[in-house]
Amino acid sequence: MMKVFKTTYGPWALVAGASEGLGAAFAESLASRGINLILVARREPQLLAFAEVLRDRYGVTVETHALDLAVPGAAESFIRGLHHDVGLLICNAAYSAVGLFQEVPLTQLQQILSVNTAAPLALTRELIPRLIKRGRGGVVLMSSLSGGQGSANIATYAATKAFNTVLAEGLWQELGSQGIDVIASCAGAIRTPAYQSAQKGAEAPGILSAHTVAEETLGALGKTPTVIPGRLNKVVGFLMRRLLPRATAIRLMSKSTKELQ
Ligand SMILES: NC(=O)c1ccc[n+]([C@@H]2O[C@H](COP(=O)([O-])OP(=O)(O)OC[C@H]3O[C@@H](n4cnc5c(N)ncnc54)[C@H](OP(=O)(O)O)[C@@H]3O)[C@@H](O)[C@H]2O)c1
Repeated sequence: MMKVFKTTYGPWALVAGASEGLGAAFAESLASRGINLILVARREPQLLAFAEVLRDRYGVTVETHALDLAVPGAAESFIRGLHHDVGLLICNAAYSAVGLFQEVPLTQLQQILSVNTAAPLALTRELIPRLIKRGRGGVVLMSSLSGGQGSANIATYAATKAFNTVLAEGLWQELGSQGIDVIASCAGAIRTPAYQSAQKGAEAPGILSAHTVAEETLGALGKTPTVIPGRLNKVVGFLMRRLLPRATAIRLMSKSTKELQ
């Protein structure tokens, strides 16, 4: 299985937002499968230290690039300048500002759009022709259960996650016949530094480790257009998206997003 994964999605994977949390877990899961890595995020010291750990632990080649994906044009020029045989793109970088819509400065709302939608769009658009030429490869777009319906307190962030889910589903249909697997990972709460600093109250039920989310997402790649990691989250996702009236789903989700700061 490892060999098939490496042949399909290797020899190089690009992880956007790899300096900590889930992106770091994706990088480690890929390194454990023998895939070389291109790690992108803004904080260079974290990237350099993490790359060293991965090289020592897994014997893979790791490159780091300190890059602000919110800068217009940065994502596309980065891909255009890459000469590696990249077989897998993980669009994991995200930004969120918590608060009522009218109280969050417009510049922060625009930053959410830039990092969470414009950047994955550009990375994916620039890489896909190369994947098509190879005839195999994959793209993971990180989404969230919060993107399944409107979510108070993080309305713009949730809307960007809905964008990622729907984009991934469309690309799954367009590219599947050409050997390119696209998946949206609609995660519930993940125990990452970002989650832990934003959560005021007790941990959300069904919270998962970053390692579990990364492994379940990579395991589902090529099998389905969307995955909801974790058993409880799958049930919650089914309830919210399929069974409950939309207004009830919005109210329920907003109860838990009210706990964010
Ligand atoms: N944590 C959760 O509970 C949860 C739940 C559902 C979905 N998700 C999704 O899962 C993904 C990872 O979540 P997380 O909690 O691990 O997030 P995180 O800790 O905030 O990590 C996001 C990553 O993105 C990078 N990043 C942020 N802004 C960037 C920019 N302008 N340019 C380049 N890189 C940037 C950060 O690194 P630098 O700061 O070094 O740039 C970091 O490596 C996100 O897409 C999130 O929406 C998370």
